[in-house]
Amino acid sequence: MDLESLGKEVQLAIQKAASLDEVESLRIKYLGKKGELTKVLHSIGKLPANERPKAGKLANKLKNELGELIKEKKEEIKTHKSLPWEDLSLPGRRPNVGGLHPLSILSHEIQEIFIKMGFSVVTGPEIETEYYNFTALNTPKDHPARDMHDTFYLKDGRLLRTHTSPVQIRTLEKHSPPLRIISPGRCYRVDTFDPIHSPTFTQIEGLWIDKNISMADLFGTLDLLAKSIFGKDVKTEFFPSYFPFTEPSAEMWIQCPFCKGKGCSVCKRRGRIETVGAGMVHPNILESLGYGEFNGFAFGMGIDRIAMTKYDIDDIRLFFQNELQFLRQFDDSKL
Ligand code: DAH
Repeated sequence: MDLESLGKEVQLAIQKAASLDEVESLRIKYLGKKGELTKVLHSIGKLPANERPKAGKLANKLKNELGELIKEKKEEIKTHKSLPWEDLSLPGRRPNVGGLHPLSILSHEIQEIFIKMGFSVVTGPEIETEYYNFTALNTPKDHPARDMHDTFYLKDGRLLRTHTSPVQIRTLEKHSPPLRIISPGRCYRVDTFDPIHSPTFTQIEGLWIDKNISMADLFGTLDLLAKSIFGKDVKTEFFPSYFPFTEPSAEMWIQCPFCKGKGCSVCKRRGRIETVGAGMVHPNILESLGYGEFNGFAFGMGIDRIAMTKYDIDDIRLFFQNELQFLRQFDDSKL
């Protein structure tokens, strides 16, 4: 047998060996004093002088390699034997797989509701210009409404968007009506963390532009939204409000789902909770974009507050602390 096939044969035998005794007998059979490989090594002296160096080198290399392999196999068998006995009836270890954040879960749920109504989902940048965040939304410089938004300004004059409304303008610049969009995303305002305030929060903006859209369409759409989130029995109420980018403006309040309007700590004894700001898009905005013959409605909601109401959470900071025990309660996969 040539050296190569002998090497392969021994390798295979070592791999298959399951006990220390088996490995040891293989060592003796091949590498022992009278072993097969040893015999080959001894016979090299009988070869013609010019073949000796090459054959000797090859046989020695093989001897060393097999010696190593035998050592490793012995180690492997020893460590395996020293492992504690495995109880196969024990439950397996669960892999630590991540899940969706409660705000993402709610955001997806709301997006689904609007997708069913024919809305498309679009997004916009979190770093905005004054133009998109304020001016184009009918809120010029020195407009008192700018004070309501304590804004984080960047050194270059840009800012962190204070609401998702700029996406209305960005969308209308690119696409002409009729259109229906919603836009979820992060917003920022100068605020210190407390149980109900956070310098960052998530909003969902909505916009429906067409011809002959009415306040009734707006109320119907938002009422359906409230019922889809909080159940079909939830009562909604609309009150006049003010936003520079809508005229007329309104806000939707829902009956407190905890006390059913009686007044409790969640609704601060008011019996109702404010959820969405809305209105008919201000004609100034549509006209300046060249869509004077269209009309429509827009709305915006902070989903952190909605999530707090829906899931009965009394501190907004829980959304940002990354406590796994808190987050896992919302995770469908229950990992
Ligand atoms: N952007 C408003 C805010 O952050 C919410 C809002 C109100 C959005 C009325 C709208 C709207 O699109 O029509 O408070």
